[in-house]
Amino acid sequence: MAETIQIRKIAGYVGQEVTIQGWLYAKTGKGKLQFLQIRDGSGLVQGVMFKPNLPLEVFEAGKRLSRESSIIVTGTVKAEPRAKGIPQGYELDVTDLQIAQIAEEFPITPKEHGIDFLMENRHLWLRSKKQWAILRVRATAMRAMRQWLDDHGYLEMSTPIFTPAAGEGTTTLFEVDYFGDSVYLAQTGQLYNEANIFSFGRVYCFGPTFRAEKSKTRRHMTEFWMLEPETAYQDLDGLMEMEEQFISAVVQECVAQCRDELEILERDISVLEKITPPFPRVSYDEAVAKLAEIRAATTDPEAKALLDIEWGSDFGSQHETELTKLYDKPIFIYGFPTVCKAFYMEPWPGRPEVCKSVDLLAPEGYGEITGGSERISDPALLLERVHQDNLPEEAFKWYIDLRRYGSVPHSGFGLGVERTVAWICGIHHVRETNPFPRTLGRVYP
Ligand code: 4AD
Ligand code: MG
Repeated sequence: MAETIQIRKIAGYVGQEVTIQGWLYAKTGKGKLQFLQIRDGSGLVQGVMFKPNLPLEVFEAGKRLSRESSIIVTGTVKAEPRAKGIPQGYELDVTDLQIAQIAEEFPITPKEHGIDFLMENRHLWLRSKKQWAILRVRATAMRAMRQWLDDHGYLEMSTPIFTPAAGEGTTTLFEVDYFGDSVYLAQTGQLYNEANIFSFGRVYCFGPTFRAEKSKTRRHMTEFWMLEPETAYQDLDGLMEMEEQFISAVVQECVAQCRDELEILERDISVLEKITPPFPRVSYDEAVAKLAEIRAATTDPEAKALLDIEWGSDFGSQHETELTKLYDKPIFIYGFPTVCKAFYMEPWPGRPEVCKSVDLLAPEGYGEITGGSERISDPALLLERVHQDNLPEEAFKWYIDLRRYGSVPHSGFGLGVERTVAWICGIHHVRETNPFPRTLGRVYP
């Protein structure tokens, strides 16, 4: 009996008879020749059905297959340089075919569909080549992130989803009834990881986070995946050094592992190959000055208005896009005004209006992909900041406690998986980088 293989491994089976369990992606041909595009989740191969090579009833059944029919195909692997499979260059001379199911007419056709229709049919859209490629890049990126951290002495910690207080500002909390009490879906796992570092030194959490974002933009979701490393004895400079190593390694791993996927997405790989340390470091003050220059040189009044910025306000997507246009690598913007950022960030020495924060902006207008900071290590100062931001002291008692028993400088960042994958893939909107995205307007399917 022929061995059942994954198409991805097909190169090792030239000249041998193998079986593939998959689905029909497309079919062409006439007369004695039928060409089946077979996908099995790992790749895609063209099966050639030549009438004289098959029992007549098998050939006739093959002719009647509809798109997305589930099929088990046996055949001999042939090297064929012109064959456009994934991987490229192989074909299957079909010798047998079993049909698991003849699919009903598939709603998603090769013609153009509107985004609402596609999102409504996300459960089926996932099978399309482009979606397949994006989600494989996502999985590769996530694996590379874990790999790098595991290799650098970090321990993965699970942090809670039900939380008693805001971790990242009170305006985007999802409130949940917890047996009569109010709790919130986690906006971040950071605060818990700050406890974990005192036991493990270097930790990370990786999971879904929730923000009641009212913004309907290409970068915002209400549920997104965040990776958050936290490191003891690491200051702001150490954080930037770690981040540039980490991001570069993740991008290069995707380039190495996802050639076929990035080609399907028509991503210019040479742009990604430039992502190596060091990344430019731009202070918030310098960024505001650069934006003023760009604004002065802008003639279009609408564009000019969008570029308005005063010291003390956070950047909008227009500001981020203009800043990143100046570089072909991700850039660090550090030292934001304290008022723009969360309560837990360490103040800049001698400049309390500035905090030791850093955002990483991806090139090509993808905007902020990570946000991080050095954390306040003094308990009295932290308590003062809790009060200043009108946060409930009771809920943060444990968090302030951490600074009473062996407090150290420490820092960390959070990386948004969907934004990072959108950038690596070169696609416009974050919604396609999550299998089942949750946004302001959609929680189905
Ligand atoms: O900058 P943020 O809010 O940082 C934190 O949550 C920190 N507690 C992280 C830390 O230091 N451990 O979010 C981090 C990243 C952003 O840079 C962005 O990539 C992503 O999370 N992000 C979103 N992605 C999609 N949709 C949203 N609504 C997002 N909000 C943040
Ligand atoms: Mg941020």
